[in-house]
Amino acid sequence: MLNKIKDPFIISIFGASGNLATIKIFPTLYELMLKKIFPNDFVIIGYARSKMSEDEFRNFVAKNIRKYYKRKVQTNVLNELLKHLHYTTGNYDNLKDFNKYRSHIDKLLKGKKLINICYFAVPPVVFKDIIKNLGNSRKSVHEDIRLILEKPFGDNASSASDLFHFVSQYFTEDQIYLLDHYLGKSAVQSILSLRESNKILNLIMEGPEVANIQITAFETVGVEERIGYFEKVGTLKDMIQSHLLQVLALVTMSIPVTSIDESLHREKYSILSAIKFGKSKNNIVLGQYESYKNIKGVAKNSPTDTFAALRLFIDRQSWYKVPIYIRTGKKLYEHHTYMVIELKKHRFQPKSDPPNRIILEFYPDERINIKLVNRQGHNFQYQDITTSDTIACEDDSCLPEHGGLLRDVIAGRKRFFLSFPEVITTWELIDSIIKFARRNHVKIETYKEKSSGPKSQDKLTKIDGFKWYDIH
Ligand SMILES: NC(=O)c1ccc[n+]([C@@H]2O[C@H](COP(=O)([O-])OP(=O)(O)OC[C@H]3O[C@@H](n4cnc5c(N)ncnc54)[C@H](OP(=O)(O)O)[C@@H]3O)[C@@H](O)[C@H]2O)c1
Repeated sequence: MLNKIKDPFIISIFGASGNLATIKIFPTLYELMLKKIFPNDFVIIGYARSKMSEDEFRNFVAKNIRKYYKRKVQTNVLNELLKHLHYTTGNYDNLKDFNKYRSHIDKLLKGKKLINICYFAVPPVVFKDIIKNLGNSRKSVHEDIRLILEKPFGDNASSASDLFHFVSQYFTEDQIYLLDHYLGKSAVQSILSLRESNKILNLIMEGPEVANIQITAFETVGVEERIGYFEKVGTLKDMIQSHLLQVLALVTMSIPVTSIDESLHREKYSILSAIKFGKSKNNIVLGQYESYKNIKGVAKNSPTDTFAALRLFIDRQSWYKVPIYIRTGKKLYEHHTYMVIELKKHRFQPKSDPPNRIILEFYPDERINIKLVNRQGHNFQYQDITTSDTIACEDDSCLPEHGGLLRDVIAGRKRFFLSFPEVITTWELIDSIIKFARRNHVKIETYKEKSSGPKSQDKLTKIDGFKWYDIH
């Protein structure tokens, strides 16, 4: 059973007519309502340029919850949620419209002071206008306004830093929640709890015991539906800059001894800023699936990467010379996300002996596997001894990614959000890789759909005498 949220609040959804609101935020609000997490006193207000009456907005929300909520929708719960919904039409760059929105919420709150959670469900080009007008239309800087911004935060280090400086003119850092939905996955969150609660596991996952780390994030889908966004971005930026580097940080960072969120962000920043890409063509493979250029809106000579693989290192004494391999791509043969921590062998062991491995699977299964090698019988045949258990959240207290993160914002918890220094330092890394790839004409290799991507990804692990570990 989940704890009910005690503090009354208001959620303002900017861009309430759009895709993120429709497919993620509305179904999440329904789920929170279904699980009886909301207090009696809460208000949800949509804001967008699209002209809609409040009733039209309620119908719009109801229609999309019925369409995108993954299970059967209970009409009584939905109707109860709809009673809390309101809407204001307005432009994002017009202070007068924000004053109108303020008057609207003042009328709804009738003098009560509530936490105001402002969800930015708009394209990043609109972020600054909303930040400025929210800042200028509030009555006092002491109002409890919390901003939720979804990844991507900028599209390089300079634009991320610019956004940071801009938002800092109006709001303090503790009011800003940078959301990467990967950190809302219960299996990703389990990395920290497993490390915190198992000293033994933590000891064998430390740099001196690790031979290499591999992260694989394969998808079967293409990018047709998101082509306008993806064509400008590519896989390095879309998947590696935030999602996969965040997962890597959770595994390789020092665990803070206090539960203060800032301590965790400091440690995460510290390890992320130590990740290095050695400027060599041997450390990168980029690919594009065969039919990508046939998609409407894609240039015939598009250089956009739909596959990327990297060989990285962490400039830290404890992670010295431990290679990190990351590979991710679209239209591949399977949808599978996992991390393999390959452990070192005895120095006296023959090279041909298979290694022990810790495997964290995030999708479709959410589990931890510890694979130990055993030699048995007269011929000393190798056998795996696998200890395996789910790290999925499976009881009533579990929430989908956005639900858990939204609850964290209401509770003022930032453990599974990003900090601007983390965002900027990972952009610096990705910027340097992109610059290297362009200057050195790193080839975008065409790969077949339903394959495992360009064959040359094997060169990354081969340099160090390792192989990618495929889970079948
Ligand atoms: N969609 C997803 O699955 C997803 C996933 C991860 C992150 N995100 C992030 O979530 C945010 C919202 O994404 P989205 O896909 O929901 O965006 P979207 O559907 O393109 O836009 C949301 C709303 O913003 C308004 N809008 C769109 N373009 C605008 C422009 N150029 N100027 C002013 N207003 C504009 C429109 O509302 P009105 O015209 O009615 O004002 C639109 O309905 C983005 O930051 C995105 O990167 C989205």
